[in-house]
Amino acid sequence: MKLEVKSLQSSNENENIFYLATSENYKKLPFSEQEIKFAEEQIAAEVPLVEFNRYTHKVYLHVSAEKTYGNSELEKMRKLAFSVHTKIQESKISSLVIQDQLNNSDALLAFVEGLSLTNYQFLKYFTDTKKKKYTLKQVSIQTNVLAKEAIDELSAIVEGVKLARELVNEPLSYLTAQKLSEEIQKMADDAGFTLEVFGKKKIESLKMGGLLAVNKGSVDDPTFSVLEWNPKGARNSKPIVFVGKGVVYDTGGVSLKPTKDSMDLMKSDMGGAASVAGAIYAIAKANLPIHVVGLIPATDNRPGGNAYVPGDVVTMHNGKTVEVLNTDAEGRMLLADALSYADRYNPEFVIDLATLTGAAAVAIGKYGIVAMGNQASQENMPSLKKAGDRVHERLVEFPFWDDFGELIESDIADLKNLGGRDAGAITAGKFLEHFTNYPWVHLDIAGPAFLGSMDSYRGKGGSGVGVRLLFEFSKQYQTE
Ligand code: BES
Ligand code: ZN
Ligand code: ZN
Repeated sequence: MKLEVKSLQSSNENENIFYLATSENYKKLPFSEQEIKFAEEQIAAEVPLVEFNRYTHKVYLHVSAEKTYGNSELEKMRKLAFSVHTKIQESKISSLVIQDQLNNSDALLAFVEGLSLTNYQFLKYFTDTKKKKYTLKQVSIQTNVLAKEAIDELSAIVEGVKLARELVNEPLSYLTAQKLSEEIQKMADDAGFTLEVFGKKKIESLKMGGLLAVNKGSVDDPTFSVLEWNPKGARNSKPIVFVGKGVVYDTGGVSLKPTKDSMDLMKSDMGGAASVAGAIYAIAKANLPIHVVGLIPATDNRPGGNAYVPGDVVTMHNGKTVEVLNTDAEGRMLLADALSYADRYNPEFVIDLATLTGAAAVAIGKYGIVAMGNQASQENMPSLKKAGDRVHERLVEFPFWDDFGELIESDIADLKNLGGRDAGAITAGKFLEHFTNYPWVHLDIAGPAFLGSMDSYRGKGGSGVGVRLLFEFSKQYQTE
């Protein structure tokens, strides 16, 4: 979908138009008396989107009565865009003019964001896409309040989200760990961040025991990708590090996933990795003056010939030992190695994103991100939550008391990788905490990373959750 920005024009004959207007100014738009009367009735009946059929083209009108645009109004704008998209798809429209009479740049941007994100589809594996493909190709924004730079930034974000969705939607038959790193290389070439990919030998020499243990049952080698965006004049001298779980498929390993259907969506177990790559792509593309590093440990988790088994003791990258009690708790094994590797950057702040526990998904579903952080991160937590509220990728902070630590004590090693029935999302976080010694927040995105049914502009399938959060957080990041 192509986006262009122009100043307001009075004549748009025969074009499909969406008017974004206020209760004060909509009557001055080029409508007939009859049409105004119709609009008044519709607005009185609280119809959010008034539709006029001009035969050669369609005209849509949304009248907003909002005085200010806070987070919930912006989310309404994104959702409104989804309903506009549904309408224009019904009419198989390919180009749309957005006439902005609201004069609020945040509201307009949220609308365009919702429209652009809605227009994403994953059709790669259909042999015939003609009937399925959305028709919208060209959007022209007429406004007096938006600079071209704002649209360029929005395009970078939208592109980052779409690339993340693409990675999540790809099945293992395409997206092995190796392929994931190749896809990230393409993103790096396009956006200008750097990428170094460690293969199995290098991972062995780094003694990343957790990643190697999970990889033992696989016939494919693991990868460890290091993404970096360090622009001249970066605001932070020490980097912010993003760590993403890159399990390209999770069968559970020899502790095979036990319940019906529980494996169906497990191609999405690299959702954290996708979000990290998508966010760094967007940050680089938008040229944000912030130094960020992305770390992505990747492998599939399978019960192959030499697979790791319950009872095994694994020595991790930082030398700590872990007793494996369930091979399905694999995410924490490879994230732990990446978190201790992050230490060499002397990071200012580390955020990991992972589809880590069913418990997080059960607790809050697709509606939010389960968050927890160590003591040192408490300074950063409010701004991360604020960024989440702004982009509607909201954080719910779980308790992270020391007491939970007793649930992962092992009889024979420093830690065990399984906490038991209670507080599953938290014990997973507590496990990871042992591998951090810097301000750190853990984000469990198991609920929102993959959507089983259409959810407004977030779509169906891979959602790319986390990309907009990390971008917004990085954009607003202030150093003392
Ligand atoms: N990838 C799963 C978590 C998951 C579940 C993500 C559902 C998305 C949707 C993770 O590796 C896992 O299997 N976790 C186990 C941990 C348990 C064995 C301690 C879980 O949550 O059941
Ligand atoms: Zn698992
Ligand atoms: Zn997993």
